[in-house]
Amino acid sequence: MRLTIKELFELPPDGRSVIVKGWIRTKRETKSAVFLEVNDGSRMGNIQCVFDEAAAASSAAEIARAGTGASVRVEGSLVASPASGQKVEVKALSFEVIGEAPADGYPLQKKAHSMEFLREIAHLRPRTNTFGAVARVRNRMAFAVHQFFQDRGFNYVHTPIITTSDAEGAGEMFQVTTLDLDRIAKSGEPVDYSKDFFGKAASLTVSGQLNVETYCQALSRVYTFGPTFRAENSNTTRHLSEFWMIEPEVAFNDIADNMDLAEDFLKSLARVALSDCAEDLTFFDQRIQNGLLDMLAKMIAAPFARMTYTEAVKELEKTPEAFEFKPYWGCDLQSEHEKFLTEKIVGGPLIVTDYPKEIKSFYMKLNADGKTVRAMDVLVPRFGEIIGGSEREERLDVLEERIEALGLKKETYSWYLDLRRFGTTPHSGFGLGFERLMLYVTGMANIRDVIPFPRAPKLADF
Ligand code: 4AD
Ligand code: MG
Repeated sequence: MRLTIKELFELPPDGRSVIVKGWIRTKRETKSAVFLEVNDGSRMGNIQCVFDEAAAASSAAEIARAGTGASVRVEGSLVASPASGQKVEVKALSFEVIGEAPADGYPLQKKAHSMEFLREIAHLRPRTNTFGAVARVRNRMAFAVHQFFQDRGFNYVHTPIITTSDAEGAGEMFQVTTLDLDRIAKSGEPVDYSKDFFGKAASLTVSGQLNVETYCQALSRVYTFGPTFRAENSNTTRHLSEFWMIEPEVAFNDIADNMDLAEDFLKSLARVALSDCAEDLTFFDQRIQNGLLDMLAKMIAAPFARMTYTEAVKELEKTPEAFEFKPYWGCDLQSEHEKFLTEKIVGGPLIVTDYPKEIKSFYMKLNADGKTVRAMDVLVPRFGEIIGGSEREERLDVLEERIEALGLKKETYSWYLDLRRFGTTPHSGFGLGFERLMLYVTGMANIRDVIPFPRAPKLADF
């Protein structure tokens, strides 16, 4: 039976016969032996397959075809490896190339490639150490998200992807239509959405929050985890047009409970990454971001700093010369401000609360001062916001006023307002950008490198 390389490394080097299938990373030929490094993605490390003189001679024709990237089948016995850093290797007996990868066309030859180059071959980049590691960590983190909430009695709710309401009220939605736009444009007629597929204008969702709140008001502890879409023209290393978001929502939780949940959640995910993705994280620590492992361990051990937006702005105003964008009360915190607060002021994660209502969404609970809302953003060093959340406005009249003041259409939110009409409760929730989490635990620099096929302005290849 074929075992994965990860499974082979868990076996004793007792000479048992094994079959390895995977892709060649490197081939090294000496006078007396041939060494093939084979990888199948089950773990970072390759398995070394060694052909002694006799085995090399009997498989000579196949070995000649076995360049980097070729898929292969190696049959042999599992023995102790004299090479350092690996317990076992395969003493090869027979060998077969399944699919060749001609060196003159295969772009992933044994040398360092830039992230930019690898982005252009996104269909092949999972075969590199870095992107294999990203994929494995991403998989483990997705599972850990579910484990965290399932262990705490949360119900996973599948919120819709196509929607007719703007959950953030920011107008950053991609339209979904089956109307023949060419024909309408040529005809000069106005667009009639009643003739569109859904009988009204529809979009891809920017957040599952409003829908998940409805289930929160029945099941108490819920979360959604799915793709979300933002048509915001942000060409940065932190923004995607399509990203995955985890949004828990808890009935009867106030903003303090919400902060505790967010902190526990991030720490729990970091703990799983350190324990279950140790080989991959060690690689990231050595090759991508020095000090990553220490940073994660420190983050788990210490409580997150907390301050209000007003306090944060006071800190920033002490050194206005440090910023391109001068901080003042009422400004939206820029990424340079978030970096400064987390890196220079607190030296770790920071939860900022009580932002001015003008720069936050309509659904956040208005404080007694009438000026700020019970928002909470979790900021981290390097890239700033990783989580955004709030206590929700549960008072019908206040929420209606906010919707009107912001010029949003009350009719589209009538069902959302019903939650306040019937059995309203204080409740809170937040959104964790899954790719921001991935940046955090891998130390990767660009968000386009922690999702398999990134979508961003002018970028939707593959
Ligand atoms: O702060 P945001 O916009 O909040 C919401 O969508 C709320 N509905 C969440 C909630 O309370 N249930 O987004 C939440 C998080 C951000 O903190 C960030 O991590 C991530 O989603 N995010 C993005 N990630 C990648 N690319 C983008 N364009 C992102 N926009 C937000
Ligand atoms: Mg936000």
